Amino acid sequence: MTGQPPPAAAFPATRLRRTRQHDWLRRLVAETTLTTNDLIWPLFVHDGGLAVPVAAMPQVDRLPIEGLVRAAAEAAALGIPAIALFPVVEAQRKSDDAAHAFDDDNLACRAVRAIRRETGDAVGIICDVALDPYTSHGHDGLLHDGTIVNDQTVEVLCQQSLSLARAGCHIVAPSDMMDGRVGAIRGALDRFGRQDVCILSYAAKYASAFYGPFRDALGSSASLGAGAARGVTDKKTYQMDIANSDESLREVALDLAEGADMVMVKPAGTALDIIHRVKHTFGVPTLAYQVSGEYSMIRAAANNGWIDASQAAMESVLVIKRAGADAILTYFAPQLARALAVRG
Ligand code: PBG
Repeated sequence: MTGQPPPAAAFPATRLRRTRQHDWLRRLVAETTLTTNDLIWPLFVHDGGLAVPVAAMPQVDRLPIEGLVRAAAEAAALGIPAIALFPVVEAQRKSDDAAHAFDDDNLACRAVRAIRRETGDAVGIICDVALDPYTSHGHDGLLHDGTIVNDQTVEVLCQQSLSLARAGCHIVAPSDMMDGRVGAIRGALDRFGRQDVCILSYAAKYASAFYGPFRDALGSSASLGAGAARGVTDKKTYQMDIANSDESLREVALDLAEGADMVMVKPAGTALDIIHRVKHTFGVPTLAYQVSGEYSMIRAAANNGWIDASQAAMESVLVIKRAGADAILTYFAPQLARALAVRG
């Protein structure tokens, strides 16, 4: 039998390893490409003079306004399209009615004005709309007799959105999960001639344990302890149940009908299926938030020498894009942007 080829069965015509042989070939057939244009950098700002590290989020700081302005300029230089701002509000500014949320001189508004003075429209500014930094009990809504009340909260959220719009915020991002807030905020902005301000709704936002480090960064865990003392121990009466998938489509459909320009799924890594369904069902700008806990898990493992932080960061964000996200909020944004710039 010399010279005779082995039986056909030994020659699979299709060998998927063939296109995995070289780096250039893998790049050529790659189905998903992460670029800096896909990144949004969440940043914490506080009223102190120095950067203060967030213990639960290695390499993340609460920045003073000047530091924040520098970070915004860095985002612009790196080509990161937008930043998302989160103010650390001093305890004495928190109250049951969250009135400081719509004070034009609050930290969020001052920060937005300072950034706009420096970077103009070079980098998009996204501001969270929710009451958790401002309520004495740390909830995203007003608390009356052991209940987070919906419609009264929405009125405050409209005031907060207008105040942020006046400061120069490009995108308001309601993260509170009250019913009807997107339509109410759109109406309020439009009535005041602010048709230019975009709404990014945290449409499918799950009640998740992965927000823990963020609440530490903001100091809202302590407030939530006070909330628990008043009968509301968690955010499950407004944020979505992790068990649900169809419900996320209903949330997105409502927010779009109410005028959302972009929708968000959050957390990202535990909701890749939801990102996929939302993107393919609606075909609208679909963002995903790799939240604080997802970030800190990678950092913690890396700090123990168990995984490679830069590779794990790149992989975790690329798969969010592969699932269907058009852009990803991630605390790794500057590191990823630098790595992507080197890779070209
Ligand atoms: C506040 C808000 C939260 C996050 C973004 N906006 C926390 C929460 O809902 O308790 C979480 C972000 C993160 O964990 O990185 N409404």
